[in-house]
Amino acid sequence: MIKIEPTGESLGATISNVDMANLDQSAFDEIHAAWLEHLVLRFRGQTLDDTSLAAFSRRFGKLDNAPIGRGGDYPIPDRPEITIISNIIEDGKAIGGLGNSEAVWHSDMTYVDMPPKASLLYGMEIPNTGGDTWFCNMYRVYEDLPEAMKTRIVGLRCKHDSTRTSSGSLRTGFAEQYSPEEQPGEDHPLIVRHPETSRQALYLGRRRNAYIVGMSAADSDVLLDEIWDHANASPHSWAQKWAVGDLVLWDNRCTMHRRDGFDDAERRLMHRTQVQGDIRPAT
Ligand code: OGA
Ligand code: MN
Repeated sequence: MIKIEPTGESLGATISNVDMANLDQSAFDEIHAAWLEHLVLRFRGQTLDDTSLAAFSRRFGKLDNAPIGRGGDYPIPDRPEITIISNIIEDGKAIGGLGNSEAVWHSDMTYVDMPPKASLLYGMEIPNTGGDTWFCNMYRVYEDLPEAMKTRIVGLRCKHDSTRTSSGSLRTGFAEQYSPEEQPGEDHPLIVRHPETSRQALYLGRRRNAYIVGMSAADSDVLLDEIWDHANASPHSWAQKWAVGDLVLWDNRCTMHRRDGFDDAERRLMHRTQVQGDIRPAT
């Protein structure tokens, strides 16, 4: 019997009594239903190699491959689906992404036309303090908007910036600054309907360089600041405090996440997979 323990906050549940290596269809269906209901699932005490992490992840859909590094290869060459998130430096080179700094609220890769539906993060080395990952429930953030604001943003689209990572560093090949119209990225509705639950959610991506299509840059910033103030003040969040062996799965279509920074003298190592989206975000 799979055990599902909700966090008691607005999202998240801890799942136990799961044999990841031998997951039959009915057990998977239960996990999938719990995921749609709780948005973020945490499986504690796992011992997963990259093959089993990829195999479990693939139950949710096709996987994206990791970005190719400067050396022209995947971080783990025989497992292209695995991305490394880490601050560890080996031979003078970062073995993974995001370093030790804070990562601001975001959803993953919303700056493409079909953003990923899910990401899975597996904790292998965890600092003693810091590095918590926070999640927030964007259904609830939407529902809590003042009615006048809901009405005001119906039909609006927001451009999602593709030039920066969630820790704020500029991706290779992009300029420091663009005009809002020329900012590289994709636009999506501000209010989306989740393709599986049919519930409406606020769809923000990240704040930096975001732009409401068709507005002046100044008006867009005023409106986005108001919406983000509401999201930042929302009580509908929960922090994952990591232990080695935690596997966390989030629904990228109706949550945002952020990460606390941590002391660079400590090591943090996570292996990560990303499940492809199969439908464009739509109202
Ligand atoms: C990510 C991410 C947060 C973390 O992998 O997409 O934002 O806790 N990671 O490392
Ligand atoms: Mn992320």
